[in-house]
Amino acid sequence: MPFLRTSLAAFAALALAGCSPASEPEAPETQPEAATPFPTLTGELPAIVAHRGASGYLPEHTEAAFQLAFDQGADILEPDLMVSRDGVLIVRHDPYLSTSSDVADRPEFADRRRELMGREDWWVIDFTAGELQSLNARQVFEDRPQEYNDQFPIMTFGDFLDMVDAMQARCNCDIPVEPEIKLPAEHAAMGLDPLPILIAELEARGLNTEDSLVIIQSFDAPFLERLRPLTPLPLAMLHYGDAPGGDMNGYSLEQVAEFADAIGPYKGLLLNPDGSSTGYVERAHALGLVVHAWTHRDDRPSVIEGGTSDDELRALFALGVDGVFTDFPDTAVRIRDDMLRGE
Ligand code: G3P
Ligand code: CA
Repeated sequence: MPFLRTSLAAFAALALAGCSPASEPEAPETQPEAATPFPTLTGELPAIVAHRGASGYLPEHTEAAFQLAFDQGADILEPDLMVSRDGVLIVRHDPYLSTSSDVADRPEFADRRRELMGREDWWVIDFTAGELQSLNARQVFEDRPQEYNDQFPIMTFGDFLDMVDAMQARCNCDIPVEPEIKLPAEHAAMGLDPLPILIAELEARGLNTEDSLVIIQSFDAPFLERLRPLTPLPLAMLHYGDAPGGDMNGYSLEQVAEFADAIGPYKGLLLNPDGSSTGYVERAHALGLVVHAWTHRDDRPSVIEGGTSDDELRALFALGVDGVFTDFPDTAVRIRDDMLRGE
């Protein structure tokens, strides 16, 4: 499917051009390309993917967090997507709501608390989109700033896309997005299959085309295989990393390359504890897979033993990852700029 590769290469290039004015003239074709220290698949600079927005600073998945990420220089915005009771895609990472919203302080929803998946909580699938939009977001991590809690509402995917449209109008630039469909099989089992909802929403907005700046990610290989014939958009298979060798529903990289354009591995699958390469990026690139690694966090230990989070980011960029999900886009911009200057 060569048109998909073209689409993804264009996506990667546009991701880096995303913060430039749309009307900016192109550089002359004869201009020699500067060498960079980033051995990415396309030769472009690695993209900085805002993980749930600038979620290290502001409550995740809020308009403020996405706007801050853009202002800090992020190239791509990532929303995670759940499904509401009435079949609307909701920008949320967790299927439960108590840790990321004010739902526990809302008496009108007190009786919605119930046990599911071994946990007592309030669940996205028990609320309509309108009810979810009435909730306010909170910082999930207790050691991150809490003073912005309860100021920004939960968004639907439609709200998110409206926000991106408005941001693009303000900057006169293109802003790529990388939505992740969370728990598609689990939602489908409850009668809330996200696949037709996603396709309908993208098509309604003219975004299910090969030149749209959208890349779809999921941890669910069968979901991406179902999606493949329904969209020309690039697909990214996420690779969970806690088990030795990680977990991709038992699929190999070679099998994933049959239906996906990109791979999203946990960063610890790319770097050995001493900071050396595991060879993963080279294997993925050899299969034509773009690599978007997750998740860099300034305030969490590095996967490099004795290394800083900056060391980890430098090592990932030096491996040639094509993108890095980060809660702190400003740090990734700084490190990428430093490396470009040879520092
Ligand atoms: O989608 C990349 C990365 O975000 C996967 O982990 O759990 O943060 O969605 P998670
Ligand atoms: Ca994600």
